[in-house]
Amino acid sequence: MNRKKIVITGGAGFIGNHVVRLFVNKYQDYDIINLDKLTYAGNLENLNDIEQKENYSFAHLDICDEEAINAFFKQNHIHSVIHLAAESHVDRSITNPLEFVKTNVLGTCVMLNAFKNFGDVANGRFYHVSTDEVYGELGDEGLFTEETPYTPHSPYSSSKASSDHFVRAYHDTYKLPIVISNCSNNYGSHQFPEKLIPLMINNIKDNKPLPVYGKGDNVRDWLWVEDHARAIDVIFHSGADGETYNIGGNNEWSNLDLVYKLCDLMDDKLNRAAGESRKLVTFVTDRAGHDFRYAIDASKLKNDLGWEPSIQFDEGFSNTIDWYLTNHSWLNNVLNGEYKQYYTKMYESKH
Ligand code: NAD
Ligand code: DAU
Repeated sequence: MNRKKIVITGGAGFIGNHVVRLFVNKYQDYDIINLDKLTYAGNLENLNDIEQKENYSFAHLDICDEEAINAFFKQNHIHSVIHLAAESHVDRSITNPLEFVKTNVLGTCVMLNAFKNFGDVANGRFYHVSTDEVYGELGDEGLFTEETPYTPHSPYSSSKASSDHFVRAYHDTYKLPIVISNCSNNYGSHQFPEKLIPLMINNIKDNKPLPVYGKGDNVRDWLWVEDHARAIDVIFHSGADGETYNIGGNNEWSNLDLVYKLCDLMDDKLNRAAGESRKLVTFVTDRAGHDFRYAIDASKLKNDLGWEPSIQFDEGFSNTIDWYLTNHSWLNNVLNGEYKQYYTKMYESKH
């Protein structure tokens, strides 16, 4: 029997490592190739537990390198692509927008083109992993549906919106088999600590100020990363060709309430006096163009494909904190890299 070769791009990143792990463990008859450039956000240590498995391999490639990507596709008969590789941090996109255009727009087009020209388009598919940020922002009411018009505001969300349009254009123009999902904020293990939750966990642990942007009243809809990986599995295997599916946690928190919850849980876990960590909260200059609220209507995914989040936030959140408090060497390795410079540069200008 011919084994299916599935390329997962960005598999060394936060969400990617969970998707790779799920596919490698669940589908022994697939060969999973993790294609990653290993930017500051890519970390092969994330995959220590599965790197020896026979159905896993790693391709150290840049999705923007057309020649190398084409050669890779010519050498390997690729059944399908699950495309997660991207520049993913909004704050970095404000500092360096062109990097986001390059990776997220050009890189996605290089992958689409290679799959169109050399992939198994008759049997496989190109799955594009996108974000709810393409829909812009909400006020106090309402939810993003798959029909919500695109109104991205940041260079990051604009680059992801552009990549979504290209994926649909390849479907409409070349009949490329595609599917897209747009997900809300993920939390869980192995997230680079430039993002809100691991950054705050690390700062609380070290008794450092907790930089809350603006008044902390912006709202995000948080989903456990392993539930996102489960949704990707379901959509990859059962999603309809050309369709878009929204993925969300139905779990909205203002940033300040979330940070306070984190402080209280960590006071308990670190045997600190109640209210101690809350004193570290520091309101700093707001993010430019900061979207007020994201919230997802994931009913299409539930009704059509039967997916729902599997765990309650309290359980997932507590386990997540425990993971960062337990995995010292993972955290220290990450913090000793490019992170220090990034943190100083990003936060010294915020007061
Ligand atoms: P991440 O920043 O943690 O990881 C990105 C990965 O892509 C890294 O391993 C990095 O090395 C790799 N990469 C970057 N540029 C590359 C290039 N040129 N060639 C090959 N590999 C490259 O990102 P994440 O948070 O895991 O997000 C993964 C995907 O999911 C992204 O497409 C993002 O837009 C989307 N998404 C993220 C979230 C979230 O909450 N984190 C929510 C919805 C959607
Ligand atoms: O909605 C999905 C998106 O979620 C993904 O597409 C992005 O890749 C992912 O990074 C995430 O984007 P956000 O900008 O929402 O995530 P971030 O963790 O950077 O910030 C979450 C909220 O917390 C946001 O309102 C900004 C705020 N924040 C963030 C940081 C890093 C702070 O108040 N202080 C901080 O230091």
